[in-house]
Amino acid sequence: MERIVACITVLLFSVIFTVSAMAAEGGNPKKGKYLWKKNCKVCHVAGEEGGVLSPSTKTQKSWDRFFTKNKHKKKPEAWGKFSEKDLKDIQQYMYDHAMDSDQPETCG
Ligand code: HEC
Repeated sequence: MERIVACITVLLFSVIFTVSAMAAEGGNPKKGKYLWKKNCKVCHVAGEEGGVLSPSTKTQKSWDRFFTKNKHKKKPEAWGKFSEKDLKDIQQYMYDHAMDSDQPETCG
């Protein structure tokens, strides 16, 4: 009995550890969605200067390229106010719902 309890405890801890390690490494897509809606969409809807944009506008590869290389160079000041962590979260959200993802999102 004690062995079983010990095994289950070890298993549980490794699951919890793996999940939190993953969350720390990638961004948090829920927070990314919130940040996107609150801070990016102001300029990225019809009639605004950034033009209509949603996660499914681009492929996963081009989102990664955008966040690592381009970094919003057409409007750098819109980038500056975000922390690395915030950008990681937004990137994760875009990536998870990109054009070629399992769940493309158009109305994000
Ligand atoms: C102050 C307004 C503003 C804000 C805020 C803003 N953008 Fe932009 N964004 C622009 C403008 C202007 C362009 C250039 C549009 C063009 O070239 O026609 C642009 C371009 C882009 C592009 C390139 C579009 C393409 O066709 O490749 C992406 C992607 C993008 N923005 C994502 C974001 C993300 C993600 C955020 C939030 C972190 C954000 N933007 C916040 C104004 C803004």
